[in-house]
Amino acid sequence: MGSGIAQCIAEHGMRVFILDSNPEIVKKAVSKISERLQRAVDSGEITSDHRKEIFEKICIVENLNQAEDADFVIEAIIEDIENKKNLFNRLDKIFSNDIVLASNTSSLSISEIAKSANHPERIAGMHFFNPAYKMKLVEVVKGIKTSRDTIEKTKKLANILEKIPVEVNDTPGFIVNRILIPMINEAAFALQDNVADKESIDTAMKLGAAHPMGPLALADLIGIDVCLHIMESLEKNLNNPKYKPCELLKQMVKENKLGRKTGQGFYTYKK
Ligand SMILES: NC(=O)c1ccc[n+]([C@@H]2O[C@H](COP(=O)([O-])OP(=O)(O)OC[C@H]3O[C@@H](n4cnc5c(N)ncnc54)[C@H](O)[C@@H]3O)[C@@H](O)[C@H]2O)c1
Repeated sequence: MGSGIAQCIAEHGMRVFILDSNPEIVKKAVSKISERLQRAVDSGEITSDHRKEIFEKICIVENLNQAEDADFVIEAIIEDIENKKNLFNRLDKIFSNDIVLASNTSSLSISEIAKSANHPERIAGMHFFNPAYKMKLVEVVKGIKTSRDTIEKTKKLANILEKIPVEVNDTPGFIVNRILIPMINEAAFALQDNVADKESIDTAMKLGAAHPMGPLALADLIGIDVCLHIMESLEKNLNNPKYKPCELLKQMVKENKLGRKTGQGFYTYKK
């Protein structure tokens, strides 16, 4: 996600510092951005001069102090509350108080992350969708202590990036995952209960509900493990049996049938 967000920022003419605790990953991220931009040149979307300009906006840094003159911080590290709290505690000390510190978390509480900082009012969620350089939505998440100024600055940045920001309170799954993942879970139940075969379930939802993709094909794209993880976190945090994950999803994760990334999910893919 970090590489997609960095690309999006650079494409909109802003300098972006990228940092990962693993230097190998930064190298991979930069080469992924380079390949995607080259494809855009090859397909005539951008000129090679423009590609060069975008690429020059991306600066790799090795520690947070090297990025201390940044105007906005977007965190997209591993989805783990203790790691995020540790990082926000450090960010809060390094960056001046008028700088927004945003988290791209999909499932963790912004209010909980913000407890690690002395200035929780400048912490918000800025939830991009994959691929971040393409998808138009950004969920702007308001934690208990997030200030109006922080929300407005976050929405302003989303607008500059040509995204549509949608404000949402800090609740499990925010908007999209709270609605989308239970729908995917229900599609897995429909398959498990032999309502119809997988192709029929997907075709029915595409043609009957005007969805661009069927829910089972979409689950393969998101990752069956990611869907299961989000469903488990909705069940735990909303404490309601209606969010019980389908056994079929659990079984698929046990068998490493994680969707496109492993070549096998509800459907089979060439690696
Ligand atoms: N993958 C998606 O489709 C998606 C969509 C929206 C939001 N998100 C969110 O974005 C975040 C990242 O997701 P991802 O799929 O890119 O994860 P990922 O595991 O692929 O990448 C996380 C990166 O963070 C690095 N990292 C870990 N701890 C660090 C630290 N303390 N400092 C610097 N770097 C650190 C790791 O080396 C790794 O490269 C998560 O919060 C996730 O919920 C993911």
